[in-house]
Amino acid sequence: MLNAREIIDIYISFFEKRGHKRIENSPIVPQNDPTTLFTSSGMQPLVPYFLGELHPMGKRLVNVQNCFRAQDVDEVGDNRHITFFRMLGNWSLGDYFKSEQIPWFFEFLTKGLGLPTNKLYVSVFKGFDDIPKDEESAKIWKNLFENAGINSQNRIFYYGPKQNWWSRSGIPKDMPIGEPGGPDSEVFFDLGIEHDKKYGERCHINCDCEKFLEIGNSVFMEYKKIRNNDFEKLSQKNVDFGGGLERLLAAIENKSDIFQTSLFSPIIKAIENETGKKYEDHKKEMRIMTDHFIASTFITASNITPSNKEQGYILRRLIRRGFDNFYQIGGKEITSIIESIIGQYKETDPDLDQKFENIKNTILEEEQSYLTTREKAKILIEKKYKIGDELKGVSTISSDDAFLLYSTHGLSPTQIKSLGYEFNEQEFAKKMEEHQKLSRAGAQKKFKGGLIDNSEMSIKYHTATHLLHAALRKILGSHVEQKGSNITVERLRFDFSHSEKLTDEEIRQIEDLINEKINENLPVTFEIVDKEEALKSGALGFFTEKYADKVKVYIINGFSKEICGGPHVDFTGKLKRFTIIKQENIGHGQRRIYAKLEN
Ligand code: ALA
Repeated sequence: MLNAREIIDIYISFFEKRGHKRIENSPIVPQNDPTTLFTSSGMQPLVPYFLGELHPMGKRLVNVQNCFRAQDVDEVGDNRHITFFRMLGNWSLGDYFKSEQIPWFFEFLTKGLGLPTNKLYVSVFKGFDDIPKDEESAKIWKNLFENAGINSQNRIFYYGPKQNWWSRSGIPKDMPIGEPGGPDSEVFFDLGIEHDKKYGERCHINCDCEKFLEIGNSVFMEYKKIRNNDFEKLSQKNVDFGGGLERLLAAIENKSDIFQTSLFSPIIKAIENETGKKYEDHKKEMRIMTDHFIASTFITASNITPSNKEQGYILRRLIRRGFDNFYQIGGKEITSIIESIIGQYKETDPDLDQKFENIKNTILEEEQSYLTTREKAKILIEKKYKIGDELKGVSTISSDDAFLLYSTHGLSPTQIKSLGYEFNEQEFAKKMEEHQKLSRAGAQKKFKGGLIDNSEMSIKYHTATHLLHAALRKILGSHVEQKGSNITVERLRFDFSHSEKLTDEEIRQIEDLINEKINENLPVTFEIVDKEEALKSGALGFFTEKYADKVKVYIINGFSKEICGGPHVDFTGKLKRFTIIKQENIGHGQRRIYAKLEN
């Protein structure tokens, strides 16, 4: 039976044989993409290339990407949903299209992995507004099934945009202007379990009864949103394929529950040993724990620590929810479970092993902080409800106070109840809904401010980062190397090796030099060359890809030469004016600079 590592190897070599170049797994916490907190799909770092930017590795790419989907956190608990997963991805950037992608994926499933054809079912796009029904994909699938001796009736189903349209922000209506997307074709595997009529009289491939499992999605990304309900064709036709490794493993191992596969079952066993409880009796709690601690392991390994902000906040929620479920089934000591997680993933992600102590300590420290929060919440309530000097046990609190615990201590309704308090739940839900509406509006604003919708400012900051890198090396010395970078539409952040605090004079010199280059309105160009040649010619490249043989080198005439995927502005004059707003010492002989461009 194939294990996870072998599936990855078969997949990569299948597509390499068909002219694809392997690209590196991007970090799970994206570097220069302000639109999102986590990498949730293999296509995410490739968006500029769907829109026409040239990729240095060519038009056919393949990889296996670690992904995290915070939006799926409440779905975890059934037989298929997980927040952290590995996505098999292959892409055509304006090269092949439906008639290659669909037969290749079919061949990979049936010949590469040996899955039985009669267990496969597919969906295609039904059409919507001006975007036509995808009869071409349906026809390709029909031929494939019939050539394999399978009656294609009741195998191929049409669905609308809710099911068979894919973009980073979901259905067409929710996409920001400028965002690419397109119809998709999904493949489902019949897990062979009985349909549960609780979910409707008749079963269908998108039914929630757990019978059919989606194992792969080919997105035919050929549209871009230009106005409210209007789409135009992109200048090129792209394919964006994603398949879930953990689900493919369930299909290969003929397991109707992904948590029973060879990847997860040793972790479930470790939980059973630690708690003395059986998986059969506590599926939901054990599934949530397994998923949340795996995701926490990977997020912690990306140097995120639990906090009240952005990625740190999600990590905090995962760890705390993991512990809620652990305590609920009598768990006390988590270490053996983290060991088991690392044991299962270290073959594909060897750095986890080296980071074990750090991962374990982060999770245990957050457990302590959670226990302290719970204690403080209890004291707050006891004090509020005390009569005279008497601290009498409180069992019912007002919905206002429950909401206070949620907003000040971050405790969810379930967590408040686990402290032994009851409250009026409807009122709480109303308050929570208002609160969530506000934070959703904030999140949407963040997305709208991103690279795709409002690309110009982010692209300008990207070019400013190159100018800053070159200027730092010229003014401070060539020991300066980029260590990290992060861009939003409002500022850039740049980390680099340099142990001294920058003097006011140095800051002024750096700003002056950059503004001089902006005023000279230098052209920004690129060339695609062999990686070795680029490095020999003096191009800066501290983050060069492991698998790349060709790279793109961006050149700012006579001033900067750096290996980078782009995109950039065409002339430096577009940056108008550059100002350093803050510097910080971030330890390990590194400094951090924040800088702004004039709007
Ligand atoms: N990007 C597509 C998905 O995530 C393949 O389903």
